[in-house]
Amino acid sequence: MGQVSYNHLIDLNRYSTNQWNDMLRLAGEIMRNPRIYENSCGGKIMGTMFYEPSTRTQMSFQSAMLRLGGGTIGFVNPSVNSSVAKGENLKDTAKVISGYCDIAVIRHNLEGAALAAAINADCPIINAGDGGHLHPTQTLTDLMTLKEEKGKLSGLSVGVCGDLKHGRTVHSLIKALSCYKNNRFVLISTDSLRIPEYIVKLLEDKCADYIEISSLDEAFLNYDLDVLYMTRIQRERFESQHEYKNQADKFILNVKKMKKAPEKMIVLHPLPRINEIDIEVDSDPRALYFKQANYGMYIRMALILQTINYQLNPDNIPLLTGEHNSGLECRNMKCITRTEVYLPKSFKKESGDFICEYCEEKVKAIPHRSGVQSR
Ligand code: NCD
Repeated sequence: MGQVSYNHLIDLNRYSTNQWNDMLRLAGEIMRNPRIYENSCGGKIMGTMFYEPSTRTQMSFQSAMLRLGGGTIGFVNPSVNSSVAKGENLKDTAKVISGYCDIAVIRHNLEGAALAAAINADCPIINAGDGGHLHPTQTLTDLMTLKEEKGKLSGLSVGVCGDLKHGRTVHSLIKALSCYKNNRFVLISTDSLRIPEYIVKLLEDKCADYIEISSLDEAFLNYDLDVLYMTRIQRERFESQHEYKNQADKFILNVKKMKKAPEKMIVLHPLPRINEIDIEVDSDPRALYFKQANYGMYIRMALILQTINYQLNPDNIPLLTGEHNSGLECRNMKCITRTEVYLPKSFKKESGDFICEYCEEKVKAIPHRSGVQSR
């Protein structure tokens, strides 16, 4: 099922750490010698499909392609500016746009949307964020920042703080960093915004060192952090404003707190920031989030270049590998299969549980209804 010949980037973990390392090297080389690459994508077109708001991801992708000599087409706000406003489904939009481009980037509010687009696309699809699920190109940005600023991707004590439940950047980052040796994860959140179960399972399967705590001070005191990755509380992913307000502003990094933090600890944030980092922290030399956003453009240049030149080889495993005819439906209301109902359902069986391949949620085994019986 699905296109196996395109080197889509849906989940970084479909590629090897060697391939990520090659991309990081290329990004560093482009950053230091941009002139050499200024025409390397001449005549190529990148399409951008942004169903959700974006500043950095969208513009860094666009500037990356322009700096490589290519062109860009695309939409933002599709419910106003595209045929999505007329009710077009994702399958048709992805099919048509991918016929116009050499590479297409999609951001969507539903989990598994990039995978759904890739199944139906005629060019490589890059996941620029699928709901609260994954955000692999932000992770490449984060890996580049760590590589450039810390000189390594292993043996790091990594604090991650904020909305660990809905924060797709966090999920992708932990999945990636757990593939390098001896990283420790200090997961700082309220009880309601703890990391999803499938990420905990992944950490346990890899025997990774992790701890869940609820205090920044404790993290500074006991875990000798090399990095603190702050995140926004994801207002748009809460069931109600009331629930959001209960969680907002629980962790705020300010100058006073920074005094207790290790000297070597850099502060990252995928941005946008709301209140979680006080503006006064910006002048602390450890605050690297704006530099991080800048690295994002170079790593996206490397990604575009490698994708277009077919240097990024996929593992050649089909996009969907699970059981297709199990009769199950995903119960996660934020899963793309709930709205784009024509999508082939696909579940992986893991220790007796069924895992939806689009959103990675565990599914209770309820058979789907084949139709209403007439009496
Ligand atoms: C993040 C995102 O969209 O998930 N932003 C980004 O891409 N740099 C983080 C966020 O929105 O909080």
